[in-house]
Amino acid sequence: MYIDCLIQIKTDIETSPESMNQNKYNTVSLIRKKRDGKELDEEEIHYLVDNYTRDSLADYQMSAFLMAAFLQGLTDAESAALTRSMLHSGVVVDLSDIPGKKVDKHSTGGVGDKLSLILAPIVASCGVPVPMISGRGLGHTGGTLDKLESIPGFTVDVTLGRYREILEKHNLVLAGQTDEIAPADKRLYALRDVTATVESIPLIAGSIMSKKLAEGIDALVLDVKYGSGAFMSNHNEAVKLAQALVGIGEEFGKQTIAYLTDMDQPLGFAVGNWLEVREGIACLRGDGPDDVMEISHLLAGTMIYLGEHAKSVEEGVEKSKQAVEDGSAWNKWIDIVKEQGGDAGVIENPEIYNEAEYLHEIVADQNGYIHAMDAYEIGMVSLELGAGRRTKEDIIDPAAGIILKRKTGDEIKKGETIARFYTNNSEVLDNAERKFINAISISGIKPTERKLISHMVDKNGVQLYNR
Ligand code: URA
Repeated sequence: MYIDCLIQIKTDIETSPESMNQNKYNTVSLIRKKRDGKELDEEEIHYLVDNYTRDSLADYQMSAFLMAAFLQGLTDAESAALTRSMLHSGVVVDLSDIPGKKVDKHSTGGVGDKLSLILAPIVASCGVPVPMISGRGLGHTGGTLDKLESIPGFTVDVTLGRYREILEKHNLVLAGQTDEIAPADKRLYALRDVTATVESIPLIAGSIMSKKLAEGIDALVLDVKYGSGAFMSNHNEAVKLAQALVGIGEEFGKQTIAYLTDMDQPLGFAVGNWLEVREGIACLRGDGPDDVMEISHLLAGTMIYLGEHAKSVEEGVEKSKQAVEDGSAWNKWIDIVKEQGGDAGVIENPEIYNEAEYLHEIVADQNGYIHAMDAYEIGMVSLELGAGRRTKEDIIDPAAGIILKRKTGDEIKKGETIARFYTNNSEVLDNAERKFINAISISGIKPTERKLISHMVDKNGVQLYNR
């Protein structure tokens, strides 16, 4: 997305009063202050972020600050200040002249997570504008942009003018992140990646929220995942992350609701870009897997509620189900695919898509139950088949991935197919099969079922999810 008109507010860092602070602080003193567990104020944090973004602060100094923040943590006020500085390091889109409350959803990422493709057209078809800016997959997790781009012709690179135009016309736009959105986060994230400072709840929360708040939204629904395939595998840590994200959203005046959802096994049956789009198509046609549909309807229903098109989340969920049943979500999906250059013929008839050249069945070598599926490892197998990236520069194969035939808790018989691999690179098959088999545990005892949605977090706190 390129910036081509004057409908956004760009913080002019050259002339802002804050830039006057450039020489007011001593960087070493600020690092020492954080290192010793003292709280930095808004201006001090802004000084660090602003100067780092303008190349006036060295990587080694910012690294030291990040490590101090990682070890000492950040207070709520520091976290909000960090988010604000990163948010205003670039463009903050202003969509206030477009009628209606604009609502987006963000997921902390997982394996087989194609929920955005399903809920975005559902919510838009219910009258709520959804300006969705998504990311790409990295490592074991997939990304919405890669899934969308597996549709022939679909483009996620739209100018800001087009972004608004599409949103106004369809109540929906599915766009890619740009360099203009929170550039400070981009630089800081790259530095955190190489200084072992990624896994810090306040730093993650500031990073995610600075990008989301820049989109021009009024409210946000968060899907915070826990389990083997999640960024935060530990449930308690995931709850803390959800609280931090909701706290920042509310601090910025955006109603924010988070759900804690299970990512201990892949979501649905499809893992890999086009394969997930195909599963998303089935969901929008009313034939989706139960787990995918349950979370999709809950998140969509919550977005419809926050967008003021339902009086409660429950009513929103009913509207979401209705939109799938009466075909309005499907029509919205076809409209947006066409609008963004995608081949609607392939969406209407997914069987005409150019499948991967090599299909390979993984067969059970014993009787029993699938006791666990390591979602992280399955994501890595999908990457190995060509569906993912090890580095940001890697090129992905849109047709590659895995279709699971059995999932955790299912009974299997020796000789039955557990999964089918799709790839255009036959050389990776042996290694991928070995890894996949290691990722599946089989036992004679049926495992107890895990809850798909464990908690809801909003401004009132954490509640057990019991619907
Ligand atoms: N995703 C982000 O956008 N930022 C983080 O820090 C971690 C995950």
